Amino acid sequence: MMFKAGIHPSDLVYPIFVDENAKKPVPINSMPGCFRLPLQEVVNEARKTLDNGIKAVLLFGVPSKKDDVGSAAFAEDGVIQKTVKLLKEEFGDDIVVITDVCLCEYTNHGHCGIVKDGKVDNDSTLEVLGKVAVSHAQAGADIVAPSSMMDGQVKHIRSALDDAGFKDVAIMAYSAKYASCFYGPFREAAESKPKFGDRKSYQMSYGSQNEALREIELDIIEGADIVMVKPALAYLDIIHLAKSRFTVPIAAYNVSGEYAMVKAAAKLGWIDEKAAIFEILTGIKRAGADIIITYFAKEVAPWLNQI
Ligand code: PBG
Repeated sequence: MMFKAGIHPSDLVYPIFVDENAKKPVPINSMPGCFRLPLQEVVNEARKTLDNGIKAVLLFGVPSKKDDVGSAAFAEDGVIQKTVKLLKEEFGDDIVVITDVCLCEYTNHGHCGIVKDGKVDNDSTLEVLGKVAVSHAQAGADIVAPSSMMDGQVKHIRSALDDAGFKDVAIMAYSAKYASCFYGPFREAAESKPKFGDRKSYQMSYGSQNEALREIELDIIEGADIVMVKPALAYLDIIHLAKSRFTVPIAAYNVSGEYAMVKAAAKLGWIDEKAAIFEILTGIKRAGADIIITYFAKEVAPWLNQI
């Protein structure tokens, strides 16, 4: 059934931050309504999400310990591994658990990979990403979402998963991930701001359209089951082009800064929040997104269910 807005709760993915240090939900300043949750709270949050017809969550971890190589990212008792197990024990196949596969929340320097001579080293990072993905699969993840933008990450993760016996675990690739200022609030939420430099050597420059299409095409060849465009709002053309060229499902990530802008303007009384959220999500869907990852998911789903 199509709803008036054209969006269905099952089109949406709700991102959840799990904080190994938190004793109670910690509000995220620049993302009003979003919290870093302690492990015990995640099941409740997921239940509310599922009750509203959203099927999938995307998990980000804030570990209690960080080091040079991000070892907490692939630890068997790491924050994400524990969370995935809990969610799968509680909800089984009723939930689609997607995990972010990256190192920036787990490294003390805040970069998405292994740093050698002051630079992120692509190939040694691939080894670690493979381990992270397999550890998530072992915990029960349905889909892994590599977001570090290393070259060859999808291929490497696909073979690591296959070799470990996880042929059915799917890959949602952050294929067209632009170096964007709109990730600012997320980096506060996930404590993942780089301590030096920026991510411009591995994320894409926003002037380019063809590079995005090439990255998407490569990821599909390497074995991605779903490809993602991120952020969403300033990149609707990329979503549209991707949808018209490729047949795999296209996901769009309506990122933290896009959420924060709406919340800030609404707080000041400068826009109608509900109307803005509908218009934005409809626009992303209309551009061609099959899946929308959005912090608005939890808020918008009950409204969609009332239409
Ligand atoms: C990890 C990652 C980031 C986001 C998702 N995965 C941050 C980054 O690249 O700095 C951003 C999501 C958002 O802003 O909502 N690399």
